[in-house]
Amino acid sequence: MIKPVFTIGITPDAKLIREEVFIKEQGFTNEFDEDDKTCVTLVLYLDDIPIATGRLLKVDPATYQIGRVAVRAPYRHKQVGSYLMSFLCEKARTLGATTAIVHAQVSKRDFYNRLGFYEFGGGVIDEDEGVPHIYLSKDLRPSHFRRGYRYHK
Ligand SMILES: CC(C)(COP(=O)(O)OP(=O)(O)OC[C@H]1O[C@@H](n2cnc3c(N)ncnc32)[C@H](O)[C@@H]1OP(=O)(O)O)[C@@H](O)C(=O)NCCC(=O)NCCS
Repeated sequence: MIKPVFTIGITPDAKLIREEVFIKEQGFTNEFDEDDKTCVTLVLYLDDIPIATGRLLKVDPATYQIGRVAVRAPYRHKQVGSYLMSFLCEKARTLGATTAIVHAQVSKRDFYNRLGFYEFGGGVIDEDEGVPHIYLSKDLRPSHFRRGYRYHK
């Protein structure tokens, strides 16, 4: 069974997954930063094995940025990443967010599009350590709010 564990700040298991995925597999060098001390970190465990991680950073009271989304290689294409994202979105919602954003690797855009994240701000592509990235966002409000629903007595 998959168990989500949220903490404030990075944990050794989150660090281990990010080292394995972003440093060893993808070759990033500036993986860890000051935000790791204060962010909400999520690690998913399968029978006590840490299999995926991600983090939430507050941009403003209504906006949280999801980042460092990583699923260990043997567990990919089994919906673990999608599950991780739904936990992160739900947590952002409970913290008061109406919007979640990601600074996504362009090559992973389809993964995020399928989860309801789309380009904003003109779809500008920038580079992080030479890897093309793009900002995507998702409206976290319930659908009746998005349609401008108003309750009338
Ligand atoms: C991207 C990542 C988080 C996806 O995790 P996952 O558990 O494999 O994702 P899911 O199984 O929930 O995928 C759902 C769908 O998203 C799409 N998708 C998944 N990985 C994708 C990828 N690498 N590129 C494009 N689309 C992808 C597919 O349509 C997939 O459906 P399918 O498995 O039937 O083909 C994972 O591949 C990973 O950790 N990659 C390395 C780290 C990374 O690049 N993180 C993202 C930084 S922006």
